[in-house]
Amino acid sequence: MSVWAILVAAGRGERLGLDQPKAFAKLNGQPLLAEPLRRLDESDWIDAIVLVAPPGWEEPAILLAEEVGCGKVSACVPGGETRSDSVRAGVAEVPEDAVVVLVHDAARPLLPAEVIERVLAPLSEGWDGVVPGLPVSDTLKKVGADGAVEDTVSRDGLWAVQTPQAFAADVLRRAVANGGEATDCAGLVEAGGGRVKVVEGDARLLKVTTADDLAKIASWL
Ligand code: CTP
Ligand code: MG
Repeated sequence: MSVWAILVAAGRGERLGLDQPKAFAKLNGQPLLAEPLRRLDESDWIDAIVLVAPPGWEEPAILLAEEVGCGKVSACVPGGETRSDSVRAGVAEVPEDAVVVLVHDAARPLLPAEVIERVLAPLSEGWDGVVPGLPVSDTLKKVGADGAVEDTVSRDGLWAVQTPQAFAADVLRRAVANGGEATDCAGLVEAGGGRVKVVEGDARLLKVTTADDLAKIASWL
C-alpha cells in the first residue's frame, strides 16, 4: 500500500502580514515549512511527499527540503489561488498507483506522529476520508456586523476540524476533479457524497494564523 502526503504551503499568509509567505516565516530560526516537512518525512507511514509551494518559491522550498534532509519529497509544484486549487495541483503529482493520500497544512507545523496513525487506520474499514478534530468547548454565538448577538448556537455535536486529513486516493482524485471550493479537503469529498469520519485531533495542531499563534507554537517546541 502506498501512502502519499501532500503538504500545502502555498498560502500568502495575509493575516500574519509578513513580507514573505507564511511557509517561510521564521519558527525558532528556521522557515516554518521545515518543521512539518521533517515530521512527514520521519513518519514510517508516509512513502512520498508532494510539496505545494507559494508560486515563485518552488526553488527555496526544494533547497529547504534538501537542507533538512527530506528524502521523500518527490515533487514540488506551485499552488493556486485558493487552498482547493493548491490541493488540486498537488493531487496532479500523485501517481496512479497511490492507495492513500494524506493532505496536511504547512501552517500546522507541530504534527504529532500519532495523529498520522489515527487518521490512516479507519480507511481500512471503508471510510472515504478521516479527519482529526476537537469538540468545540466555547459557547457559539451568531453575531451581526454591528456586534449584536443574533443567536446562541448549540455546540452539541460540533467539532473543530484540523489536518492531516486522509483519503482513499481515488476518492480525493474524484472530489478535486469536480472543481469545487471548500476550506478543507473533506468538504470537497462530502460535497460528492463521501463518508468522512472524525477522530481525535490534537491541540498542538494549532494553525498559525497570526503572530501570536507563531509565538505560541515556538514556545511549545
Ligand atoms: N494554502 C495553499 N494555497 C492557497 C491558500 C492556502 O496551499 N492558495 C495553504 C496554506 O499555505 C496553509 C493552509 O492552506 O498551509 C491553510 O491556509 P491558511 O491558514 O488560510 O493560510 P494562508 O492562506 O497562507 O493565510 P491567510 O488566509 O491569512 O492569507
Ligand atoms: Mg487562507
